[in-house]
Amino acid sequence: MTADRVIGLLRDLESDHGGFPVNRLEHSLQTASRAERDGRDDDYVFCALIHDIGDTLSPHNHPEVAAAIIKPFVSEAGHFMVLNHNAFQGYYYWQHLGRDVNTRDKFRESPHFDRTAEFCELYDQISFDPSYTSNSLAHYEPLIRQFLTVPAPDAPNDSGRV
Ligand SMILES: [Fe+2]
Ligand SMILES: [Fe+2]
Repeated sequence: MTADRVIGLLRDLESDHGGFPVNRLEHSLQTASRAERDGRDDDYVFCALIHDIGDTLSPHNHPEVAAAIIKPFVSEAGHFMVLNHNAFQGYYYWQHLGRDVNTRDKFRESPHFDRTAEFCELYDQISFDPSYTSNSLAHYEPLIRQFLTVPAPDAPNDSGRV
């Protein structure tokens, strides 16, 4: 079922360091743990946890992979945050890649701009700390199963299954 496959995608991230001090699974757990410990709601924590799944399948557009998988199950705000997080993350490091750090500005008119900017500032871009103690993947399995079972009432245009 979908939840088992998503848990598998998260486990796959353990083999991916990408030059960072922690692997991609630890980065994901750390991002979710920081959000959870800040009192964010389940929709937010779930999105924080899975925002980088797809990195092992399609590194350059992994947000689109992750966003497509979770689209029927999360809020529109959560979907936007996952789908566009790369441009907002770029604000912190794209100068090193010769890319425009202000690329996120193209989303200024979105009602979800501030939320996504805050997600990257407070959780995503700092969650590469090898000394941080994150919650385990097992801790999040019930949340993953809960979210990937019932489509969210405010999910963006669930096209159904044919
Ligand atoms: Fe990412
Ligand atoms: Fe990330």
